[in-house]
Amino acid sequence: MTRTLIQGGLVITAGEELSADVLVDGERVAAVAASGTEVTETWARGADRIIDATGLYVIPGGVDAHTHMEMPFGGTFASDTFETGTRAAAWGGTTTIVDFAIQTVGHALREGLDAWHAKSEGRCAIDYGFHMILSDVDEHSLKEMDALVDEGVSSFKLFMAYPGVFYSDDGQILRAMQRASGNGGLIMMHAENGIAIDVLVEQALAEGRTDPRYHGEVRRELLESEATHRAIQLARVAGAPLYVVHVSAEQAVQEITGARDLGLPVFAETCPQYLFLSTDNLAEPDFEGAKYVCSTPLRPVEHQAALWRGLRTNDLQVVSTDHCPFCFTGQKELGRGDFSKIPNGMPGVEHRMDLLHQAVVDGHISRRRWIEIACATPARMFGLYPRKGTIAPGADADIVVYDPEARQTLSAETHHMNVDYSAYEGKRITGRVRTVLSRGHVVVDGDAYLGRTGHGRYLPRATCQYL
Ligand code: URP
Ligand code: ZN
Ligand code: ZN
Repeated sequence: MTRTLIQGGLVITAGEELSADVLVDGERVAAVAASGTEVTETWARGADRIIDATGLYVIPGGVDAHTHMEMPFGGTFASDTFETGTRAAAWGGTTTIVDFAIQTVGHALREGLDAWHAKSEGRCAIDYGFHMILSDVDEHSLKEMDALVDEGVSSFKLFMAYPGVFYSDDGQILRAMQRASGNGGLIMMHAENGIAIDVLVEQALAEGRTDPRYHGEVRRELLESEATHRAIQLARVAGAPLYVVHVSAEQAVQEITGARDLGLPVFAETCPQYLFLSTDNLAEPDFEGAKYVCSTPLRPVEHQAALWRGLRTNDLQVVSTDHCPFCFTGQKELGRGDFSKIPNGMPGVEHRMDLLHQAVVDGHISRRRWIEIACATPARMFGLYPRKGTIAPGADADIVVYDPEARQTLSAETHHMNVDYSAYEGKRITGRVRTVLSRGHVVVDGDAYLGRTGHGRYLPRATCQYL
């Protein structure tokens, strides 16, 4: 087994910052000790490989709890496969993803899960787990939830949006929540009132309002906060915890904050696109706004302050990417002349760690909070802690050596995601990944990719550890 010593860096976890050396034995962290001591000098003599981290941060690999590789949507498929998407994640310092297997209406959960295992097995560059999307809540799928929790698929996404596709009505949602309250599963909610949104979509199109910016206008903030409120009340009735995905509107944050002030087990994530982009992007001319079509939609820039505040106060606990890329050419273009036909979703899995480091540089969050929202809490929320999300003896050696002073400019020319545009084209970032270890193997070293398709292992997960 290879013994690797990461020497002289500032080790940052959600709990502490410490000038320390990290000893990796094979695939696991063996020990962490203050740098320059007798014990670390002994480690150095016995190490097969030494990584010099002087002047650099040593952080846990990122855990992105919301991705959609190869997702079928809007008549096409998300353009990153498990192979390309997990490689891009590794480049950006993310070493675990939790993707969404999908139940198709009329089919069993098992069928959907098997299909996602078949797509991903032997193809991932980093470790991965699955949530399950429930598109057809009935007696059979409710029973199946129990078995899935037992085998490590312990979270279930439901949609209050997309009638006719993924949508569940309130009765189905309540039943799924009741089931989850009994089996330990965590319900993840896409909280937008899809029935009302579809009326507004129809009216906008009938009035000739077809540009991408109308995607943002019809998906009203009130329809996100109303759905968030309803989801919270249904979870209360069921006695189940709730995790609200991709929160973008200030009013939705208020609903979540109110619930948490009552002591309810309500949790939520937001995504970098809502923190750094806005309806100004959706309004870009010449159909360029289509690049930013996702749901929930981007909001006016004023909403960002509420999201940052929520992240600081822990009313929002996680930042995930909702990585769901579609190329501009040939995919986003499906919605020219009808914004409702633009496939919903944006690329981002490669940039989350860097964008959130930029938030540290900009003073929105502290360094430890960066690690908490991007590594530790997603791991705890989805039953992967402390194997993932921290640097501690016994944890998987998923470690990023991060240069906080390096400068980079994000661009489609240089990113590794399989998509023909960058949502952050030209954005300057302070900070950059230097070296990435996935289970003790160096997968990225400076400009070199040393990873391997198939290195990534499937991760059966425990139930939520954040309650
Ligand atoms: O626009 C989005 N978010 N696409 C992916 C599917 C979802 O709702 O998360
Ligand atoms: Zn969603
Ligand atoms: Zn999503």
